[in-house]
Amino acid sequence: MSMIDIVKAKARSDVKSIVLPEGDEVRTVEAASILMKEGLARPVLLGDPVKIRETAEGIPCDIEGIEIIDPATSPKLSQYAELLYELRKAKGVTREKADELVRDPMYFGIMMVKTGDSDGLVSGAVHTTGDMLRPALQIIKTKPEMKIVSSSFLMDCPNKDIGENGLLVYADCVVMPDPTAEELAYIAVAAADTARKLCGFDEPRVAMLSFSSKGSAKHALVDKVTSATRIAKEIAPDLLVDGEMQFDCAIVPEIGKSKAPGSPVAGRANVLIFPDLQAGNIGYKITQRIGGADCFAVLQGLNRPCNDLSRGCSVEDIVNTVAMTAVQAQG
Ligand code: ACO
Repeated sequence: MSMIDIVKAKARSDVKSIVLPEGDEVRTVEAASILMKEGLARPVLLGDPVKIRETAEGIPCDIEGIEIIDPATSPKLSQYAELLYELRKAKGVTREKADELVRDPMYFGIMMVKTGDSDGLVSGAVHTTGDMLRPALQIIKTKPEMKIVSSSFLMDCPNKDIGENGLLVYADCVVMPDPTAEELAYIAVAAADTARKLCGFDEPRVAMLSFSSKGSAKHALVDKVTSATRIAKEIAPDLLVDGEMQFDCAIVPEIGKSKAPGSPVAGRANVLIFPDLQAGNIGYKITQRIGGADCFAVLQGLNRPCNDLSRGCSVEDIVNTVAMTAVQAQG
C-alpha cells in the first residue's frame, strides 16, 4: 500500500469534519463530493449555497448530504466575532473589525476549528500560503509543547531503498524562512512526531542537513546546524537525531559510514531537516520534479490541524490533504 492509501485507511477508521473555506471553488467542490463518497471526512463547504450548488451542477458532481454554511448569514457570527475580539483585542482588533473579519470565510473557518465546531481546515486553492497561515497562527496558535509552527513534506520516492521503504519526511519546506538554531531544533522534533503519527514510522531517524558533515567545513551556517542538533537532543533525549551532515551522508549507507562513523542516523535517515526555507523548498521540488517523488505537505505544531494547498493543486491533492488533516485531527 502506498503512504497515501495508508493515510486514507486511517482517515476512514474515525471520520472527522474538515471545513473548506474556499467552498465555491470548482476543484474544492469536486473534492468534497469525493471525500463524502469515499467516507474520508465530513467536508463542510463555506460560501453562498446557491453558487456552490451551481458549481456542483456544472462539474457535474453530487454534493447531497454535504454541509454548506454561508458565513454571511450564519447564526454563529456574533459568537465567533466576540471570541475573535477577545483573542485579538490586545493586538488592536476592535469589536467592529472582528465583526468584519468573521464574515471572511477563511477567518470563519478558523473560528470553527478554534471552537471545535470542525475538527480541521484545508485551504489554499485560491489563497496564498501567507493568507492561509496568518489567521491560523494568530488564532489557533501553537501546541503548548511547541514553540513554532512549521511543515513537513512526505516524499514518496520511486527508489524504495532509501528512507523508510522509499518514504522520507522533509522539513521545513513551507513556513519558517530563516529559523534560529532553537527553531530548527523544534522543526526537527515536530517532523519526527509527524513521521511517527502520520507516516507510521516506528523509529524516526533525523538528519540535520548542511553542506558539512561532522566538522568537514567551518562556517557560521554550519554552527547553526550543530547547535540545533544539540538543542534537539536536549528537547527530545530519546530521539535519534544527528548532524550536521550532508544529504548523501544522511541517506547513502556507505557514505554515512565513512563520513559519520558510529552515527545512529547517517546513511539511514528517514527524516531530513533543511537548514532554512530556501534549501527546504528547493530540495522538495528537486526530489519531486527530477526524482519523481509524490509529495504531500502538512503543517505541524498547530494546536489543531489546518493545512495549506498549492494554488496549482488538483482535485486529488485536495482529497489527499483533507485525508491527512483528518488523521492529524485523530490525535
Ligand atoms: N509559528 C508560530 N507562530 C508564528 C509563526 C510560526 N512559524 N510565524 C509567525 N507567527 C505568529 C506571530 O508570532 C504573530 O502572532 P501574534 O500576531 O499573535 O503576535 C502572527 O503569527 C503573525 O505574525 P506576522 O509576523 O505578522 O506574520 P508574518 O508576516 O511573519 O507571516 C508567515 C508569517 C506567513 C508564516 C511568513 O513567515 C511566511 O510568509 N512564510 C513563508 C510562506 C511561503 O511563502 N512559503 C513558500 C511557499 S509554499 C510552497 O512552496 C509549498
